[in-house]
Amino acid sequence: MTAPSPRFVQLHRSDDAAVRAELLAGLAEQPSRIAPKFLYDALGSRLFDAITELPEYYPTRTEAAIFAQHGADMAQHVPPQAVLIDLGAGSCAKAARLFDVMHTAAYVAVDISVDYLRESLQALQQRHPALPMLGLGLDFSATLALGGDVTDWLAAQQLHSQPHVVFYPGSSIGNFTPYEALALLRQAHAACAAGGPGGGLLIGVDRVKAANVLEPAYDDALGVTAAFNRNLLLNVNRWLQADFAPAQWDHVAFFDAARSRIEMHLQARSAQTVSWPGGHRTFAAGERVHTENSCKWEPQTFQQLLADAGFGPATHWTDERGWFSVFWAPVA
Ligand code: AVJ
Repeated sequence: MTAPSPRFVQLHRSDDAAVRAELLAGLAEQPSRIAPKFLYDALGSRLFDAITELPEYYPTRTEAAIFAQHGADMAQHVPPQAVLIDLGAGSCAKAARLFDVMHTAAYVAVDISVDYLRESLQALQQRHPALPMLGLGLDFSATLALGGDVTDWLAAQQLHSQPHVVFYPGSSIGNFTPYEALALLRQAHAACAAGGPGGGLLIGVDRVKAANVLEPAYDDALGVTAAFNRNLLLNVNRWLQADFAPAQWDHVAFFDAARSRIEMHLQARSAQTVSWPGGHRTFAAGERVHTENSCKWEPQTFQQLLADAGFGPATHWTDERGWFSVFWAPVA
């Protein structure tokens, strides 16, 4: 018997001109800033995968250990037969580990590009032939409205009254400021509330800890994170036909305790001018381009954020060191 094929839908992808305009606006700011999504071209995604294997980068393996240790307990809270909506699905590997323990009824993998999902979802369908799967191309950092395509697909599968579980692992929520995170969580709440009773949000969150643990995780001895950060310049060069010279930029990462976040920057080694067709920008020696925030949360503060977003009382699981937490926030 051959497995059914997953369905794929791409929603309102911003055009190349809009992407270039966004980049140019950020470069013109004082100081310059480039959004972290520009870290993830094909090479950047591979460099991030390498980061997750570094001894200093604890989040990925700590979260995996929490799921391994507490998965059965989580399944007491997460309803069975749910529609699992995976935000930033990528390889779909983290969600796939939940299918059996959560008795998942359907899988909706959301990522910025549906092309990136195609291979992983097709392979996953072979291993789970009976599980309905939908690949959804959507930049949910702009909006998380899943839209009529998803509703129609669920209705066609007789799944529209199943609970909706939004899955957002990896502490990717940390890329958003608290204000932006609240807006995203409100939309996640709406997505959960659209399903049958019992739905909610399962989310991985990195916690506040000592700077001497946090900072090496974002500035490792092998220089992989530095390469990941500098690679953003190669991606920007491609988008803008610009001439950033990666070797002229230092990787800078530090914990800002007042804002409870790691900041990543690229710092000009010397005074330089970067040009592209129709424009240029001069940088003084030592001037920085801000490329990423990675917010760290205290459990009580994050619980309050979930409540502010409309969720009911949240439960969370953590590791022995209390470095990372996985929250279950029911829809009400
Ligand atoms: C993918 C956003 C969770 O913030 O830890 C890793 C990205 N940046 N090393 C993180 C990242 C530098 C990562 N997230």
